[in-house]
Amino acid sequence: MENHFSNELSGKIALVTGGTKGLGKAIADRLEKAGAKVIIIARSKPEANGNMHFIPADLSTAAGTEKVIKEVQSKFGQLDILINNMGGSDTPAGGFAAITDENWEKTIQTNLIAAVRLDRGFLPQMLARKSGVIIHVASIQGRLPLHESTLPYAAAKAGLINYSKGLSKEVSPKGVRVLTVSPGWIATTTNTGFLERIAENAKITIEEATKSVMDALGGIPFGRPALPAEIAEFIGFLVSPKANYLTGTEYVVDGGTIPTI
Ligand SMILES: NC(=O)c1ccc[n+]([C@@H]2O[C@H](COP(=O)([O-])OP(=O)(O)OC[C@H]3O[C@@H](n4cnc5c(N)ncnc54)[C@H](OP(=O)(O)O)[C@@H]3O)[C@@H](O)[C@H]2O)c1
Repeated sequence: MENHFSNELSGKIALVTGGTKGLGKAIADRLEKAGAKVIIIARSKPEANGNMHFIPADLSTAAGTEKVIKEVQSKFGQLDILINNMGGSDTPAGGFAAITDENWEKTIQTNLIAAVRLDRGFLPQMLARKSGVIIHVASIQGRLPLHESTLPYAAAKAGLINYSKGLSKEVSPKGVRVLTVSPGWIATTTNTGFLERIAENAKITIEEATKSVMDALGGIPFGRPALPAEIAEFIGFLVSPKANYLTGTEYVVDGGTIPTI
């Protein structure tokens, strides 16, 4: 099959946080197909990383982030594309009262501060070259918060969306584009496991569990979650020269889930 984006990112160095699974893996594959040299970060080593450069690090800590910045600078010298994809929530169910300070702090570190630290580490060389693209992967929960266990996650993603806009105002005049992508529900392997647990606990089928998640979101007009590759394709476009005029904007990719304009 013809590769429509071959070599579009040739010569570019791209870093994808959480690039070993789910959406991050799909983004890393898409950028590599477009010709970029791809660096992926996660806590545990993937079974295979092909030609991608893997750096093990816990990005929810300052030390983990510092390690990544140093290794990229010493091995590659520069970074052209930074995809802040890593994120998630593991806070317990039980409502607002069950969520501790520790849960809040960990979720905010993972979903907001990790990106702030990486941006701060890589922006100086991007600004010096007047070139670079930074993507922040947020979530529709930044605009459509769910309660129960994801209160901190939703608040952290709202903070990330706001921060991304503010940062774009500061650095876009100096040549660096900053964008936010807010996916709706994505069919990742982690989410498949989540559905299996719901089905097992509630003694329902996977289809019924899928419907219960879609109902909790107020329905997905498209009738299904996104495939990771569908979100990755859009991010591949955003970081390409075709999107050179785009900066400071948030793109919701949710199959129509958010009900408001
Ligand atoms: N899935 C969805 O439905 C959905 C919806 C909206 C938005 N999003 C957003 O999309 C992004 C990707 O989500 P996903 O569902 O694709 O995630 P995922 O499948 O759970 O994968 C998470 C990735 O991040 C890595 N990771 C997690 N914690 C880390 C840490 N502290 N330090 C370094 N790496 C870490 C994981 O590897 P290790 O575990 O080995 O570290 C893995 O590579 C997140 O920002 C998420 O909030 C997802």
